[in-house]
Amino acid sequence: MAHLLSTENFEKIGEFIYRKSGIHLEKEKHYDKLAKYIDKRAVELEVDNFRKYFFKLRFDDKDGIEFQELMNAVTVNETYFFREKDQFEVLVESILPDLDKIMPKNRPLRILSSPCSTGEEPYSMILHIVEEGELIERRDVEVVGIDIDSTVIEKAQKARYTERSVHAIPKDILGRWFVKKNLGYQLGDDLMGTVDFQVANIFDKQMMRKLGKFDVIFSRNMLIYFDDASRKEVAMTFYDMLNPGGYVLLGHAEYMSRIVSVFNAKKMGRTLVYQK
Ligand SMILES: C[S@@+](CC[C@H](N)C(=O)[O-])C[C@H]1O[C@@H](n2cnc3c(N)ncnc32)[C@H](O)[C@@H]1O
Repeated sequence: MAHLLSTENFEKIGEFIYRKSGIHLEKEKHYDKLAKYIDKRAVELEVDNFRKYFFKLRFDDKDGIEFQELMNAVTVNETYFFREKDQFEVLVESILPDLDKIMPKNRPLRILSSPCSTGEEPYSMILHIVEEGELIERRDVEVVGIDIDSTVIEKAQKARYTERSVHAIPKDILGRWFVKKNLGYQLGDDLMGTVDFQVANIFDKQMMRKLGKFDVIFSRNMLIYFDDASRKEVAMTFYDMLNPGGYVLLGHAEYMSRIVSVFNAKKMGRTLVYQK
């Protein structure tokens, strides 16, 4: 059966998705998935052609549900605990101790995981911080996780993980902070609620301002889905959201120097970090 989404209309909705979220979809790779999603969604909405669906998405979506459903369908949420582990080590061994010395003592250090997907990244920060143990004795640390996909934020809040997701956590740490369940692992009560999760689009300037200022921003494995113009916009958003002296860390395949020149690139151990 033919899909409601023609290849010409793929360009139109692709442009809409790009403009709203920075996500760049390629016809060869993404047409099938998007076309199947629109067929399914059209049945749920009881519309019988692409034009009606696209009208609803653009002009009849006051509560934002249609856009949210679309985002939940097109994002790639791959993640796992302790991914690119050296960055968490640098965070607790160098970055946080340095910031602790220079930042005013009367406020928490604030870390943003943007994007956080199902929560493994911000909880990996928390696990490293509690395992290190000393900083947390003298300083509050706040961790905020944001993602455009509301389904991953719901999962992050439940903090229930598969065997695959926790495979890189050393067994002793896993045993200390998680409870084994039939089909995976539940984060234990001690760490539940330690990350503030929110659904947010990095291109939504108002929402980003509401999150406040941060001392460290992890933004790993999202910019790879964007083009240069969107990467630049996001990099400048991070710059505005950081306190002076604060850091950005990107995924191993992502380089700030190719995007903007406002940060100072520094090597900490094997990890490249970008300081404001
Ligand atoms: C591959 S995951 C990366 C998760 C984690 N940072 C890691 O490296 O393991 C990419 C995430 O980016 C999110 N994302 C894509 N565009 C976004 C946007 N405009 N605003 C916020 N999150 C976005 C997706 O929903 C997805 O969960």
